[in-house]
Amino acid sequence: MSSRKQLSDLDFRHVSLYSETLINEQLYNAYSLIAKDRNLDELVFLDAGCGRGQLTRELADLVSRPEQVLGCDIDRDCIEFSRKMNPAIQYFQHDLLQPLPEQQKFDVIFLTTALAQFSHQDQQQVLNNLEACLNPGGYFFILDVNSDRTGAMFSQLKQTKEYAVIYNRKLARSLLGIKPAVMLAGRVPFLFLRLMEAIVPGRNMLQLLVVQKT
Ligand SMILES: C[S@@+](CC[C@H](N)C(=O)[O-])C[C@H]1O[C@@H](n2cnc3c(N)ncnc32)[C@H](O)[C@@H]1O
Repeated sequence: MSSRKQLSDLDFRHVSLYSETLINEQLYNAYSLIAKDRNLDELVFLDAGCGRGQLTRELADLVSRPEQVLGCDIDRDCIEFSRKMNPAIQYFQHDLLQPLPEQQKFDVIFLTTALAQFSHQDQQQVLNNLEACLNPGGYFFILDVNSDRTGAMFSQLKQTKEYAVIYNRKLARSLLGIKPAVMLAGRVPFLFLRLMEAIVPGRNMLQLLVVQKT
């Protein structure tokens, strides 16, 4: 492997770490808002389109019982990998375009970078399927790229009377979009990158929207 390739892999890891830090900070802010009203230990969480299960493992650390956390994905390999990483968390293979088993009910449903890949119509289908198993007063945590494809879905959720907006934050303005941020990640303190985020022009790459079913 050339040193150029090694450097870019390292840069990528640093940017990933930086983006994880940004995202975790926002998720933590949103959990804190919910924890003001609800006991997190009484809630059941679903990570819909959980991939390799990283978020489910972080959630399981946050709550007192890992059985409170479930993850689903269409990809069997992702499910098998996730099960191996933490057998105490329940994972199931599921196509989000199909209704979920009726008996399954959740208080918090996460969709992290899982919706942008669907057309607007399919995003609606996925949300309808998930809404059917969201308990009254339950929450959707939607973190996704801030693109034209997600824009309509974010606006619609913010406007509908069936949901109250609990948290809405655009983040990662310079992330990946601005070369210096990629080069600087890992070489300067995160705080400096945060400052860059605040002052550089450009579009935020990610958006976190948390809504509560009214
Ligand atoms: C970009 S990954 C995000 C994974 C994870 N949420 C994360 O943030 O790391 C998108 C995930 O959606 C899953 N996915 C794609 N289409 C799906 C569908 N119809 N039903 C369920 N999962 C699906 C993919 O298998 C993949 O794991």
